[in-house]
Amino acid sequence: MTEAPENKRSRYMEWAKLCSGARFNLATSGLTSVVTAEFPLRLEEVEVNGPGGYGYAPLLERIARHTGAPLECIVTAAGTSMANHLAMATLLAPGDEVLIEQPAYGPLLDVAHYLGAQVRRIERKFEHDFTISLGEMEAAITPATRLVVLSNLHNPTGALIPAETLRAIGGMAQRAGAWVLVDEVYLEMLFDRAPPFSFSLGENLSVTSSLTKTYGLSSLRCGWILADSKLARRIWLLNDLFAATPAHPAEKLSVMAFDHLDRFRDRARGLIETNRTLLNGFLDSRSDLECFRPPAGTVVFPRLTNGDPDGFLQLLREKYETSVVPGRFFELPRHFRLGIGGDTTNLRAGLERLDAALDEFARK
Ligand SMILES: Cc1ncc(COP(=O)(O)O)c(C=O)c1O
Repeated sequence: MTEAPENKRSRYMEWAKLCSGARFNLATSGLTSVVTAEFPLRLEEVEVNGPGGYGYAPLLERIARHTGAPLECIVTAAGTSMANHLAMATLLAPGDEVLIEQPAYGPLLDVAHYLGAQVRRIERKFEHDFTISLGEMEAAITPATRLVVLSNLHNPTGALIPAETLRAIGGMAQRAGAWVLVDEVYLEMLFDRAPPFSFSLGENLSVTSSLTKTYGLSSLRCGWILADSKLARRIWLLNDLFAATPAHPAEKLSVMAFDHLDRFRDRARGLIETNRTLLNGFLDSRSDLECFRPPAGTVVFPRLTNGDPDGFLQLLREKYETSVVPGRFFELPRHFRLGIGGDTTNLRAGLERLDAALDEFARK
């Protein structure tokens, strides 16, 4: 068997699936997964087969209520992952120019390369708290740009893009005849402070999200795209070439989840609040890490001030049995991504090990 070509794989996903596991796993980005006993399961309502068609009406209604988007502007998909793929594949043809934030969540770049797009980058700088410069955005969007791709909250840093910035980017893109795709799978981690999904900020803004990250319900694969109704229709039609028909039991379970979403939201809020206190204590104590502290979310992206980052990550994993995501997966090898959405006991132990590993590394 020959090696898979570089544009038909995701190095980050391979690493996440095969290598991220450790006794103390600080590499995850979402909330610790809901277990069946916590789920409001009404088994008698689960059906094996469904009605088919373009979207399961009860689920579309729940997503409409949850997001504020009209029914005809919603496409359901297998997680934000498939939602991103479908949106990008609908909007991009081979050779089209796409402007993607840097650093970026690996699969966003991987999908663009797979689609044969010309990938250009817009930098989010550590020195500027990973904000997006509107001046640089204006210069980067050209008449050739077909699509701008951003994440909000940003993976890997957790930075929030203010609504007025997104609205301005939407305006710039519109003048160039381009779309903006905003992956907002982490946005709801702002809870009461969460702004509406940025779909509402302009007709060329399209949003993807799911029940994965905030609600700990990854395996339901309950994702969605919010897009202008004509674009939504095109995405549904393209989906006929990919997933075509969703798993109906998952749709039924997703409806149940939406009907008890407050329960999952409270669970997430409590866990993140507790865990953020631990994280802040840890970051306050380390002068050898520089870290932008985001307003919310489950990830931070500290930078090592000294030493060889690969050597440090090896020490952390091999001697201290702790994993974080190496910054090379986000094109910034001096950084690493630290996830705080896991079980508190495990996080506390993981941070203690990270502390000890940093101490040992500094003595070398
Ligand atoms: C920015 C971003 N988008 C999408 C995903 C995948 O989300 P889902 O589980 O909904 O497919 C992730 C997961 O890490 C992510 O970080």
